[in-house]
Amino acid sequence: MKIGILGAGTMGSGIAQVAAQKNHEVVLVDLNQEMLTKAEVTLDKILGRLVEKGTVSEDDKINIQGRITYSTDIKDFKMCGLIIEAIVENLSVKHKVFADIEAIVSQECILASNTSSLSIASIGSALKNPERVIGIHFFNPAPLMPLVEIIPAVQTSEETLQTAKSLIDSWEKVTVLCKDTPGFIVNRVARPFYGEALRIYEEGIADFATIDWAMTEIGGFRMGPFTLMDYIGNDVNYTVTETVFTAFYFDPRFKPSFTQKRHAEAGYLGKKSGRGFYNYAEGVALPEPTKDLELGTQIFERILVMLINEAFDALFLNIGSKQDIDLAMTKGVNYPKGLLAWAEEKGLPWVLSKIEDLFEEYGEDRYRPCPLLKKMVQNSF
Ligand code: NAI
Repeated sequence: MKIGILGAGTMGSGIAQVAAQKNHEVVLVDLNQEMLTKAEVTLDKILGRLVEKGTVSEDDKINIQGRITYSTDIKDFKMCGLIIEAIVENLSVKHKVFADIEAIVSQECILASNTSSLSIASIGSALKNPERVIGIHFFNPAPLMPLVEIIPAVQTSEETLQTAKSLIDSWEKVTVLCKDTPGFIVNRVARPFYGEALRIYEEGIADFATIDWAMTEIGGFRMGPFTLMDYIGNDVNYTVTETVFTAFYFDPRFKPSFTQKRHAEAGYLGKKSGRGFYNYAEGVALPEPTKDLELGTQIFERILVMLINEAFDALFLNIGSKQDIDLAMTKGVNYPKGLLAWAEEKGLPWVLSKIEDLFEEYGEDRYRPCPLLKKMVQNSF
């Protein structure tokens, strides 16, 4: 099947690489010729490194590159069986390009979006045949991250779903099925990793370095929340939180943080601007954490139970299956364990009592325990 990718930015160029490495002819289209040239040069460098490492042969490199056509004209999508859109995160722009593409491709062509935060149902509403719309959500960097969230909209046909899912499975990605709701699985369940860490800092319980130390050294996470936010970019991460918060009708569980907003406003975006929660200027040492095991454990456990509560809520509301919710967090954001499995390991009554303590202490809806977690604890006695 010939694959069309719209948008040659971070995600589109990565997805094009994945498809070409899996022997598909790929048409990569972008409005901007400069982005296409940049994508071509970057791919050459990436494949060059893979040749040096011995993962890809020189012949493979030439063949992969030969399978990708770069174009500024969507008419070149004509013979594609699947188009994955990865352009700017703007609903009206996506509506227009989906309608334009539908007028060019065959009746059978599947039209997918890689959107992180928009509704697939809404994107599909621009189509004459919305049964062909689906969300295919890769993680950054697409060639390295195994997870792909597959999101059928209310309009999506079973055939579209099965074809899209088996194709992405054949690319040796780990696919999980998610409901078309804000943040899908990963960007919803992961919110407390950032939000609760920011709240702990705002309350003056610990500084950035200590919270990061607690999550990596005690919790086993690969990166602490502040290092990760600096890596993602405070502007980007703040916008995702704000979008999820608005989309959930201002549920206080997803409330964004002023600390992060102020950092973004100040231009402290993170690694990319040289300063975020940490200062990355040359010669400046990163701050040392307070390595207090009791404090660190309290911080880690508070963030962990909030993450687990969110995972239970996603299960409660059928956003994904138990297995898929755990796979999503381990394969999409490298969590050391699936959150539902982690809850069982810690003991559900322990998790519930920790959340109930927070709820009692603060009296905020943000800390309300998930009804499914409560029910499971009740049923276990
Ligand atoms: P980007 O800004 O790196 O690239 C977007 C590209 O789309 C640019 O090259 C731009 O020239 C092109 N473009 C914009 N409007 C166009 C149009 N009408 N026709 C053709 N090309 C057009 O964006 P990025 O980060 O790759 O994100 C793309 C999509 O993927 C968004 O929907 C985003 O939510 C989603 N996404 C982003 C992730 C990330 O970590 N960056 C992760 C997963 C999903």
